[in-house]
Amino acid sequence: MRDPPKNPVLDAVQKNLMAALDERKAALRAAGKTLYDFGLGDPKEPTPPFLREALRAAVPEVSQYPSPRGTPALRRAAAGYLARRFGVSLDPDRQVVPATGAKEAIFHLPLAFAGGPRRKVVMPDPAYPTYEVGARFAGLEPVKVPLTAANRFLVEPEALGEAVLSGTLLFWLCSPHNPTGAVAPRDYLERLGRAARRHGFIVVSDECYADVWFGERPASMLEVQVENVLAVHSCSKRSGMTGYRSGFVAGDADLVALVQRMRSHPGVASPDFVSAAAAAAWGDDAHAEERRRIFAAKRERFLAFFAARGLEVHGSEATLYLWVKVPAGHDSASYALALLEEGVVVAPGTAFGAGEGYVRVALVPTLAECDAALGAWGRVKA
Ligand SMILES: Cc1ncc(COP(=O)(O)O)c(C=O)c1O
Repeated sequence: MRDPPKNPVLDAVQKNLMAALDERKAALRAAGKTLYDFGLGDPKEPTPPFLREALRAAVPEVSQYPSPRGTPALRRAAAGYLARRFGVSLDPDRQVVPATGAKEAIFHLPLAFAGGPRRKVVMPDPAYPTYEVGARFAGLEPVKVPLTAANRFLVEPEALGEAVLSGTLLFWLCSPHNPTGAVAPRDYLERLGRAARRHGFIVVSDECYADVWFGERPASMLEVQVENVLAVHSCSKRSGMTGYRSGFVAGDADLVALVQRMRSHPGVASPDFVSAAAAAAWGDDAHAEERRRIFAAKRERFLAFFAARGLEVHGSEATLYLWVKVPAGHDSASYALALLEEGVVVAPGTAFGAGEGYVRVALVPTLAECDAALGAWGRVKA
């Protein structure tokens, strides 16, 4: 079909801000240069053997449609995790909905609530792009609020004013935050919870990195308040299961009921054998601790290097990311390109929106590769 009809949202959201970098990356790779890739947040550590085994053992002889509500065992395991980790007691059947990964849940979630007079979706900027993409495909209006180190990378709800808040349907929180690694303190969660009740909006709290922490354990929004709140969790980073595609949404029973109703339509139920592995993952904490240890070792190496070089690191309290201020004389793109010439791939902060002045380092390569990459980084003029 020539000149096919096109949803304008496709053009509004399909910007490749890393295009120049990708081109140069391909050219260097073709020329045989060794590249250390800290660009994408897809860790390479093996999925723990007991999780692979749980999946294999659950492959049935006869395969039938999975339920969009997920398996009861997975709902129970997710609720058990929330109880152990955050001290939050939820009804697995009425307050937990499994999803085919957090991204899928984030994308579809606005569809359960759109259609009324409230059309605004507040989100941090920079941020994981699917908050905006999901809002736009649902016909809603993204309100992107710039984050700064000075505001601790938080969106203060009451500072948005009554005109915005009275029209707000969803308010995205991401803590620990991708890309800055900032963690929302408890008093912020309390302020946000109060604002949600006062102004009648829904807080959607993306907590995919809740178990990738190094100092204080990040709190869940659900610890503060369940009313008006949905939390999104994922097996991807906690358990090394990015390829399995499994996560869940949990919180306010009235909101979960609408999410469940909506989710019976798009055909996004996880296969039961994936759910079996996910249930095993939520039932165990030791492997998550072991992964934290691995990320912590890489993180220490980088932090020592940055301190020695006088490079500032902001946020970066949790997650597998370091949010590094670019040195004077550079912007995000020029510094990322300078690093690339030495074989070190990082994401310019602008790839995530309003992240000018920073690059994001995803602690994905092995410890040995991290050491080699730091040697290469050392050759870049600050
Ligand atoms: C903040 C944030 N939310 C959600 C996701 C998606 O997670 P999943 O792999 O479960 O789809 C990511 C993935 O990188 C992320 O960074």
